Amino acid sequence: MKQPQSRIKAVEWRGDTCRLLDQTRIPGRETYIDCRDYREVVDAIRSLAVRGAPAIGVAGAFAVVLAARSAKDLKEPKPFFEKALLEIREARPTAVNLSWAVERMRGVAESTGLDADRLLQEAEALHAEDIQFNLDIARHGLELFDRKISVGTYCNTGDLATGGVGTAFGLIHGAYLNDRVSHVYTCETRPVLQGLRLTAWELYKNEIPFTAICDNMAASLMAAGRIEAVFLGADRIAANGDAANKIGTYALAVAAKYHGIPFYVVAPSSTFDLSLASGAEIPIEQRDAKEILSVLGDNTPPEAWPVYNPAFDVTPHQLITGIVCERGVLKAPYAENIGSVLG
Ligand code: MRU
Repeated sequence: MKQPQSRIKAVEWRGDTCRLLDQTRIPGRETYIDCRDYREVVDAIRSLAVRGAPAIGVAGAFAVVLAARSAKDLKEPKPFFEKALLEIREARPTAVNLSWAVERMRGVAESTGLDADRLLQEAEALHAEDIQFNLDIARHGLELFDRKISVGTYCNTGDLATGGVGTAFGLIHGAYLNDRVSHVYTCETRPVLQGLRLTAWELYKNEIPFTAICDNMAASLMAAGRIEAVFLGADRIAANGDAANKIGTYALAVAAKYHGIPFYVVAPSSTFDLSLASGAEIPIEQRDAKEILSVLGDNTPPEAWPVYNPAFDVTPHQLITGIVCERGVLKAPYAENIGSVLG
């Protein structure tokens, strides 16, 4: 099996800084943000300079290291550290990978008494696991193809969104290298265009044949037989298999079901939240109206225009053909199979 390789580092620890590729500037420019203070990482997470569920988990873990370093010079390190953890955790509420990473780091801090070197080791271990999980996912994903097909994807799930080669993107990349994928349709992903700016850039860099489309074109391409399966990521998966992902995912799942097209959610175990019985309990982040209105450029309307901008929606498990994680491909009945594999 040919294995996909990572070409881009979205998050990296360098010396005493957490280096983030500024994703708000891709594809135009490749610039980096060097964070020496946890608050800079929090700002980068909020502004989407670093984004994608696993990538913000890794960045959050490095932010905890930075917070521990700052705390050690204080008379009262504990309250500062606790406040920092809360701010990091809450920088984005839907992707559970962030709170999962912070809680894992908190456990280490509690048992080692804020030892920043030990915390750095843990953050690097968490990053290394994500890299390995991506490769395991790509390997399991190959089982899903019995012939070479053209696929659709949504938002961004590649190197930029994770620590390694990506989740759905890594799977698609692996399938392409092993002659299972002929073409990729990447939906632009309104409102902030992760599919057009980021996934198209990654497809281009990896020389995978692709076409970028507007989100409202996907159903007609399914009807025409040009999208034969959909692979995309998740930000939080409940115990019953309901999956929160970028707003618009639900509409794609409905269209895939109507056309009888397989619809796969691809995510590592750090994206599952087994404390939630169903997707109805997943908190959905609301974002600034500017993200929607800024497409009008100079022709901007008065700020008072009402805009609804939820960053995610929840796809009911009944619409999901399978969930690919590092342990294999999970299928219905989800509550039972997720519980036995990940519980
Ligand atoms: O708001 P974003 O850009 O962080 O949203 C990202 C997504 O919805 C991705 O599909 C998801 O995080 C999967 S990451 C491998």
